[in-house]
Amino acid sequence: MFVLGIESSCDETAVSLVERGKRDRIIDEKIKSQIPLHKKYGGIVPEIASRSHLEVIDNLTYDLLQDADKTINDIGLIAVTQGPGLIGSLLIGLAFAKGLSFSNNIPLVGVDHIHAHIESPFITNMNSIEYPLVALVVSGGHTSIFYLRSKFDITLFASTRDDAVGEVMDKVSKFMGLGYPGGPVLDRLYEKGDKNRYNFTFPRMSDGSDDFSFSGYKAAVLRTYRSGSIKNESDDFYGLISSFLNSVTDYLILKLDDAVKRYDPKSIIVAGGVSRNSLLRKKLSGSFGPKNIDVFFPADKYCTDNASMVGWLGYELFSFYPENNYFDKKINSYSRSRFIT
Ligand code: KG4
Ligand code: ZN
Repeated sequence: MFVLGIESSCDETAVSLVERGKRDRIIDEKIKSQIPLHKKYGGIVPEIASRSHLEVIDNLTYDLLQDADKTINDIGLIAVTQGPGLIGSLLIGLAFAKGLSFSNNIPLVGVDHIHAHIESPFITNMNSIEYPLVALVVSGGHTSIFYLRSKFDITLFASTRDDAVGEVMDKVSKFMGLGYPGGPVLDRLYEKGDKNRYNFTFPRMSDGSDDFSFSGYKAAVLRTYRSGSIKNESDDFYGLISSFLNSVTDYLILKLDDAVKRYDPKSIIVAGGVSRNSLLRKKLSGSFGPKNIDVFFPADKYCTDNASMVGWLGYELFSFYPENNYFDKKINSYSRSRFIT
């Protein structure tokens, strides 16, 4: 079956042609990143994002089918991100998908964006990832840990009470005059600094909950940056970046370890835009903990938002809920979005 995946929850308009069933592969994918449009604002401007999705989504889909020598009549299923995300952006993808679905009589499934991130490592590791698993989702909008007994039996272990980890990286980069998006910029600068130059304490929830908090990191980095009158490109400047990245990745791993101790999984998944981070990958490479649990990351291009993960999971949903009416509110409420909550 050929699946058309559509993703428009944030600042990437993405479509993908996925083959599932007899063969499991990504035939082709197209993505229009809006980074150049939002760069000068140092963050995503929702109105600009929606308008850009609207401008490109139909031609992107047309090109996808054309380049793959397919027509809409070859598509057996449309899978679209239903949330969470920027409401205006989501609506463009949803309205487009619904139009295609109704006018061509093609089944449509709505896919949860966070669940699609969790699914993303399966695209390249389909047969090696085992359930039950623990998934750490780290992105610009989300930081959560889930326990998956099976693909659709999902329990939330922890999520951020305030900022997402990628969001803090983006803000730190902005305040230090390093541009947007900050995650990749800070990643490249990590090696330049001394990771032990500054100390950060791990956040703790006063109510004893397992949740994350990152706003303290943001405040601490900015306070140090300003009060120390740190000069750009000095040892202190690079030391601050390295110390921050070192601490924040240790904090993520500490929480992951808590979840692993609680659930004793067979595999670990780390997904979302921040899972591209070199330091996090280095610290988690190979196996995890005394039980040597395999850790799976998505391929680089499937870490950040993409439509292939949406199409891939859409097929699984359609097979699992063949009534073609998947709108799983339970999964939706697991995620904490910086945009609509
Ligand atoms: O998954 P994603 O594309 O969007 C959301 O669902 O939010 O993630 C975007 C986030 C941004 O905050 C960006 O700074 C971060 O992923 N990111 C990285 C890296 N590449 C992208 N963070 C750390 N290191 C990277 N190499
Ligand atoms: Zn995402």
